[in-house]
Amino acid sequence: MTKRYTIIANWKMNPGTKQEALRLFKNVLKEKALLRKIHIIVCPPFLYISLLSLNKGKNMVSIGVQNISRLAEGPHTGEVSGSMIKSAGATHAIIGHSERRAMGETDEVIGEKMRQAMKSNLYAILAVGESEPGEDAHRILEEELKKALSGVSLADMKRVLIAYEPRWAISKGKDDTGANSDTPEHAFEKAIFIRRILANLYNSSIAQKTPVLYGGSVRSKNISVFVNADSPFDGALVGGASLDAREFLELLRRIHIK
Ligand code: PGA
Repeated sequence: MTKRYTIIANWKMNPGTKQEALRLFKNVLKEKALLRKIHIIVCPPFLYISLLSLNKGKNMVSIGVQNISRLAEGPHTGEVSGSMIKSAGATHAIIGHSERRAMGETDEVIGEKMRQAMKSNLYAILAVGESEPGEDAHRILEEELKKALSGVSLADMKRVLIAYEPRWAISKGKDDTGANSDTPEHAFEKAIFIRRILANLYNSSIAQKTPVLYGGSVRSKNISVFVNADSPFDGALVGGASLDAREFLELLRRIHIK
């Protein structure tokens, strides 16, 4: 069976205007053949969600957010709830990204956000990973997964994707060679370990079926190292390289689909 890879475009706090956001999105939409083969989830800043979803047309692309409130509604200035996200046209939410963890988001808060995403019927892209090379990655991954998934039922796991993103490998390799990013040996072993934890927390079917993605300086030059027929990853979470339409489309083209 042909595997449909998932590629997440995490635009972070870019681009600066809605006109640029729309231009970037429309350039991605032009590649209709790639969109049919690869599940692309574009995650712009909140303010562009409605705009992109209105311009999505019948294209097979999903829209996601980069954060979600841990609260459902009420007097919480500046927060954006799951139901608002859903009604603006997004279907996915990145939760627990290391840049948000660095701003003080704890595993407990991430667990609450996961619960809100599930309640709102959104798909959650749960980001996990160690901060420094050589750190006890297994212990950290196990702790992050257990706490984040503590309120996620077996039935809800069909709406969860996991992104393994070693924090030290994010936003590296700006010279475009990917030289400072992770090695496949290191990353593959973590994907297998994540599935082992999922098997312990749920069962072996969930461990097999839950998409596990790789993130951290993925670009056109190194995508095939992390996403290929022999890799345990089901796709990638792409930051910087998703902001340049030409580079992003080249990255998608380099994913070999059998
Ligand atoms: P990067 O970002 O591809 O720019 O390293 C990935 C991420 O932070 O999700």
